[in-house]
Amino acid sequence: MRPVRSSVLCRLLPAPYSLALRSLVLVLLCIAPHCQAVQAENVTVLEGGTAQISCRLQNYDGSIVVIQNPRRQTLFFNGTRALKDDRFQMVLFTQRLVRITLTNVSVSDEGGYFCQLYTDSTHHQVATLSVLVPPETPTVEVKQEAVEGGEAELTCVSPRSKPAATLRWMRKGREIAGVVSLQDNGKTFSVSSTIRIPVERKDDGAALSCEAFHPALNGQKRIRHYRLDVYFAPTVRIVPPAGILREGDSLTLTCSVTGNPLPRNTQWSKINDTLPERAEISGTTLQISRLSQSHNGTYLCQAQNDYGRAADHYTLLVYDNVSVTTMVPSTPTPTTPPITSHSTTPTLLPPTLALDPEDPGAVVETHSAVPYAVIGGVLALLVFTVICVLIVTIWCSVRQKGSYLTHEASGLDEHGEVQEAFLNGNDASQGKKEYLL
Ligand SMILES: *[C@@H]1O[C@H](CO)[C@@H](O)[C@H](O)[C@H]1NC(C)=O
Ligand SMILES: *[C@@H]1O[C@H](CO)[C@@H](O)[C@H](O)[C@H]1NC(C)=O
Ligand SMILES: *[C@@H]1O[C@H](CO)[C@@H](O)[C@H](O)[C@H]1NC(C)=O
Ligand SMILES: *[C@@H]1O[C@H](CO)[C@@H](O)[C@H](O)[C@H]1NC(C)=O
Ligand SMILES: *[C@@H]1O[C@H](CO)[C@@H](O)[C@H](O)[C@H]1NC(C)=O
Ligand SMILES: *[C@@H]1O[C@H](CO)[C@@H](O)[C@H](O)[C@H]1NC(C)=O
Repeated sequence: MRPVRSSVLCRLLPAPYSLALRSLVLVLLCIAPHCQAVQAENVTVLEGGTAQISCRLQNYDGSIVVIQNPRRQTLFFNGTRALKDDRFQMVLFTQRLVRITLTNVSVSDEGGYFCQLYTDSTHHQVATLSVLVPPETPTVEVKQEAVEGGEAELTCVSPRSKPAATLRWMRKGREIAGVVSLQDNGKTFSVSSTIRIPVERKDDGAALSCEAFHPALNGQKRIRHYRLDVYFAPTVRIVPPAGILREGDSLTLTCSVTGNPLPRNTQWSKINDTLPERAEISGTTLQISRLSQSHNGTYLCQAQNDYGRAADHYTLLVYDNVSVTTMVPSTPTPTTPPITSHSTTPTLLPPTLALDPEDPGAVVETHSAVPYAVIGGVLALLVFTVICVLIVTIWCSVRQKGSYLTHEASGLDEHGEVQEAFLNGNDASQGKKEYLL
C-alpha cells in the first residue's frame, strides 16, 4: 500500500461543488485528524550565523519529504542529500518535524525554502529565510579640511548593512543633523551622513562621534570617535628678558610659537643687519652672551606653516656701565621695518615687559647691583640734573635728542588674522625720546 493514501483522500473533492465550496471542504478535510500536512516557519538570522529551517508534519504517513532552496533545487529528498552544499545538514527527521540547518548564512541564501510532501498532488509550504547584516563600526572621511574660520565637512560611512543602518553624528551629547545618503547595493545598503560645521581655533581637538544603529544590534550602537583637527596660522611671541641689559650681561630670548600644524622651524634674524657672531640659536631660543652696545638693534622671530606666517620683534638696547640714563616717555615715532607679519597682541605679553619706558622700577632695579651709597648719590644728582636740564631745555629750547624704539609686540588682532603690522602698524610701536647726559 502506498503511504500517500490519506493525502489522496484529502484531495478527493466532490466535483459538482463550486470552487469556493471546494476550498472550504479542503480546509475542513485537512483539519481532520487523518489529513497529513506540512507547516514551515519563517527564519531570520544574522549573516554568517546558522539558520534552522523546520518543517512541521501533521499525521505523517511516510510520504517522501522534499526540501528545496529558493531556486527550487532539491536540498534533501526524504532525508538524503541531493545538493552538494555541505553548509546544509539534516539534523532531525521525525514523524512531526524535519529540520535542516544552514551554516555561514550569506545574503544570497535569502528566500523561500520549500517544505514539500511528495504525494500525488504536491503539498508544500514556504519558510522564508531573512538575513540581517549588522553594520560594522562606521568610518569618518574628511571631505574638507577644517581650517580656522572655515567649515569642516565630515562624512560618516557605513558601507554595508541590511536593512540600512541609521547614522547619527553627536557632539557633547547633542545630535548634529547630517545629510543622509542611501545606496542600494543589491542585497545590502551603504549609508552615509555628511555634516558641515564651522570651526574656530578653539575647536581643535573637539570630540565628535558617529553612531550606527541597527535592528540586529539589539539596541546597542557602533560608535566611531573622531577628533577635529583644526588648522590655523601660527602666532609668535618673544618672551623678553626682565630689566635693563648692560654690557657684559647675557641675553636670552625665547620665541613661543603656536599653530596647527606647528611650524617646523622658527627663524631668528636682526633687522637691517646680520645676527651677531656671538648669537647662539637652539630651537626657539636666541642667546647672546657678553652683550655689547654693538648688539643694539631689532631682533625678529618668524614662523610659518601652510596657513600663514607670523613674526614678533624685540628691540635690544644695551646700556653701558657708567653713563646714567633716564627715560622720558614721548609720542610714538613711526618706523617702517620691512616685514609684513603677524605679531602677537600686546595683551599677550607678560606684565614684566622689559625696558618699559613708563616703568621706573626698571631703572631702580638695574642700579641695585651698585653699592647703595653710590645709588643714592647718583639718583640725587640725576634728579637734580634732570630738573636743571628740563628747565634749561624749556627756557632755551636747546635740545639734544635721540630716539629709539621700544620693544613692542604689535599687530595681531584677537582673531589671529594677518595684519601688516610692520608696514603700517606703527601706531602700535612706541618710540621715545631720551635725554643723554
Ligand atoms: C513568512 O514570510 C513571508 C514573506 O516575508 C510572509 O509573506 C509570510 O506571511 C510569513 N509567514 C509567517 C508565518 O510569518
Ligand atoms: C522517508 O523517510 C522517513 C524517515 O526516515 C521514512 O519513515 C519513510 O519511510 C521514507 N519514505 C519513503 C517513501 O522512503
Ligand atoms: C562564510 O562564507 C563566506 C562567503 O559567503 C566565506 O568567505 C567564508 O570563508 C565562510 N566562512 C566559513 C567559516 O566557512
Ligand atoms: C662693563 O662691565 C662689564 C663687567 O661688569 C665689563 O666686562 C665691561 O667691560 C664694562 N664696560 C665698560 C664700557 O666699562
Ligand atoms: C632699516 O633700514 C631702512 C632703510 O635703510 C630704514 O628705513 C629702517 O628704519 C631700518 N629699520 C630699522 C629697524 O632699523
Ligand atoms: C645702544 O643703546 C643704548 C641705549 O639707548 C645707547 O646708550 C647706546 O649708545 C647704543 N649703542 C649703540 C652702539 O648704538
